[in-house]
Amino acid sequence: MTSMETLSPNMALAQDLDWWRGAVIYQIYPRSYQDSNGDGIGDLGGIISRLEYIASLGVDAIWISPFFTSPMLDFGYDVSDYKDVDPMFGTLSDFDALVAKAHKLGIKVLIDLVLSHSSDQHPWFAESRANKTNAKSDWYVWADAKPDGSPPNNWLSIFGGPAWQWDGERMQYYLHNFLKEQPDLNLHNAEVQDALLDVTRFWLERGVDGFRLDTINFYFHDQDLRNNPALAPEDRNSTIAPAVNPYNWQEHLYDKNRPENLDFLRRFRSLLNEFPGAMAVGEVGDAQRGMEIQAEYSSGGDKVQMCYSFEFLSGERPSAEFLGDVLTRFEATAPDGWACWAFSNHDVERYPTRWGLSEAANRAYVAAMMSMRGSVCLYQGEELGLSEADVDFDDLQDPYGIRFWPKFKGRDGCRTPMVWQSDNGNGGFTDAKPWLPVAAEHLNKSVAAQEQDDDSLLSFYRRMLAFRAAQPALVKGNFALIPGADGVLSFLRCYGDARVVCIFNLTDEPKEVALPAGNWTICTDAPFPAPDGQLIGPWGAVFAKEEA
Ligand code: BGC
Ligand code: MG
Repeated sequence: MTSMETLSPNMALAQDLDWWRGAVIYQIYPRSYQDSNGDGIGDLGGIISRLEYIASLGVDAIWISPFFTSPMLDFGYDVSDYKDVDPMFGTLSDFDALVAKAHKLGIKVLIDLVLSHSSDQHPWFAESRANKTNAKSDWYVWADAKPDGSPPNNWLSIFGGPAWQWDGERMQYYLHNFLKEQPDLNLHNAEVQDALLDVTRFWLERGVDGFRLDTINFYFHDQDLRNNPALAPEDRNSTIAPAVNPYNWQEHLYDKNRPENLDFLRRFRSLLNEFPGAMAVGEVGDAQRGMEIQAEYSSGGDKVQMCYSFEFLSGERPSAEFLGDVLTRFEATAPDGWACWAFSNHDVERYPTRWGLSEAANRAYVAAMMSMRGSVCLYQGEELGLSEADVDFDDLQDPYGIRFWPKFKGRDGCRTPMVWQSDNGNGGFTDAKPWLPVAAEHLNKSVAAQEQDDDSLLSFYRRMLAFRAAQPALVKGNFALIPGADGVLSFLRCYGDARVVCIFNLTDEPKEVALPAGNWTICTDAPFPAPDGQLIGPWGAVFAKEEA
């Protein structure tokens, strides 16, 4: 087995710089994690007070969703000052304290950079919209109306309606892929790139270990503003927007996914390289070409280190066959790339609800995700098995949900507060009225309740993370699918001499297990009962090791 001690000092350093490969990242939605100042909204102070808990999970890093100055129309994904903390969340010195404490606990810190668009309240936009001749006139995407006054082309906003907003001051339309209050920055302009790289440098110098790059494939648009072609109804795919959204009816050839992005990502990477160990994970949202784009952006060692995958964020419960197919396709499409897998985040329905999972099924799926080749993002509360909360229309905050209600209820149901205690109506999240109601059915799943139970889901996550961390093959090893019985996912992970076979029964019936030829020992430290002879129980998992 390869260990740090057997490597030369240089190789050990190189291995350390690769910490992101196979890392487990815990995503924090700061509004909903822990309130520390009694205003009903989570904040940096709250995160600081919970870092010991996060360390106790055994994760490698945290990704904190945006906490920058913002009018909060998209809850921080609309930034009006990239270099400051919104007073709602705290101050820059709170952020410094957070980084210092996280590092002391051995946790890396990733922040969420929203570079594709800013808030319309950003001073850059105020200047840009003033007229067609100011120094920042070209910092956003402005275009004339068609002769009949209608928008320049057929591009659509993900949050509903055309992607163009008329501006009476400039007498032009501007582009926005999300809310009209999130104007799209024009990265074709080198000064805009410089300004965004300057923001990136600001946070690297403050000590962050890396970035989650929001909507990384939206950075560039087609300068000729060509119309997107329509998709045939049978090709519409709703992996990044709900089925009710006509955004799914187009092939997004021209409003995103543009080739100029590769050169910008190279500039971005050169900056990262000045800070050894700094990394970026790009969020690639594209229903048609997502995997190809992930491969493009994360390969070659000169762009981002990895891309965040949408493959397991959609509605239908993935079968063993589907999981095996995605993993095999990723190997073929991106042999040199790196994926970051997730089942949940702040944008999608929580997966136990989305997939209708029992707790036993939940465990099998999580174990499968933690064994895949790639890095992993866990979303706060999934370690407790939180279900999607049902939020009344009157309590709704998310403009996306308000727009498409009731067929799509938006993202509030996965953003309700974390539950720390069971004996408190607000789950210990706040003493005030929380910004979104705490779901009553979450209370008995609190951290305090589950910490007292060795068999709880929380205990399972901890054991599974510890098991993964102890197996270099699961963290960094290569991958080969092993054909298995229907409903059974089997694969082999190898790293140097260490080989681990991973088998997941994703059905509610016992299945026969066949290990490949070799001298295999069942891992008894995995958090699953040992197989019964040749049989693996419903929702069971088997890990077996062979060390040559
Ligand atoms: C973020 C969303 C956000 C959008 C616009 C995303 O993909 O995860 O929460 O609304 O980008 O910034
Ligand atoms: Mg607060």
